[in-house]
Amino acid sequence: MKKKSETIFLNDSYFLGEGTNRKCYIHPLNPNVCIKISSIRGQRSAQREISYFKRLHKRGKSFEMISDYKGKVQTNLGEGNLFEMVRDFDGTVSKNLEYYFGLNNETMVKQMLYLVEQLRLYLHKEYILISDLDMDNILVKKLSDNKYQLVMIDGLGDNNQIPFLEFIKPLGLKRSARKWEVFKRKIADLFPNISKQIAPFFG
Ligand SMILES: Nc1ncnc2c1ncn2[C@@H]1O[C@H](COP(=O)(O)OP(=O)(O)OP(=O)(O)O)[C@@H](O)[C@H]1O
Ligand SMILES: [Mg+2]
Repeated sequence: MKKKSETIFLNDSYFLGEGTNRKCYIHPLNPNVCIKISSIRGQRSAQREISYFKRLHKRGKSFEMISDYKGKVQTNLGEGNLFEMVRDFDGTVSKNLEYYFGLNNETMVKQMLYLVEQLRLYLHKEYILISDLDMDNILVKKLSDNKYQLVMIDGLGDNNQIPFLEFIKPLGLKRSARKWEVFKRKIADLFPNISKQIAPFFG
C-alpha cells in the first residue's frame, strides 16, 4: 500500500517572508525548497499561477530566471506549494533587487541594469508573461563573489479570469510591455536615475 505523504509541521522558526497573498517558509527537511501558504483571498491567484507553471513545464520553457514550482504538500497550516528556494553560493537566502539598487554603488547598479536587460530578453525569448513584476518579486542570486543572476519568485503569468494571452502572442507581448512600464515606474519611485536606464520592453 502506498504510504500517504506526511503532514509537514511549520512554525515561525521556518518563516521566511510574506507578501500580500501568502507566507513563505523554509522547508524543514530540504533547505533548497520553500513552502508558500496562501491566504484564503490569495488561493485563486495561486491556483492560476500553478496552472501556468504546469503549462510552462509542458512547453519545455527554460526556468533559468524563474524559481520553479515543485508540487504540493500538506502542512499544519494548510496546503502549501513548493518552490525552488533562491540562495547565494554561500547558502544565504538571496536578497531582492531593491536591496541591490539601494546599495548606491555605481558598479553594482551597472551590473544590476545588465541583469534587468537579460531578464527582458529572456521574457521575450521564452515568451513568459508577467503580471506583477516588482523589485521585491525578483531575487538576485549571488553565484560567486562578483557574479549574479536574477530569479523571479512571483508575479508571472496571465492573471485574467480566463487566461488566454499565452495563446495570442501579439496581445500577450503588448500586455507584458505595459506591465514592464509599470515595473519601471515602481523603480522610478525610489530610484529615478536607475529607471531611466532600463530599456522599454520592445527596446
Ligand atoms: N523562492 C524563494 N526563495 C527565497 N525567498 C522567497 C522565495 N519566494 C518567496 N520568498 C520570500 O517570501 C516573500 C513572499 O513571497 P511571494 O512574493 O511569493 O508572496 P506574495 O504574497 O505573492 O507577494 P506579492 O505581495 O508580491 O503578491 C518574498 O518577498 C520573499 O521574501
Ligand atoms: Mg511577492
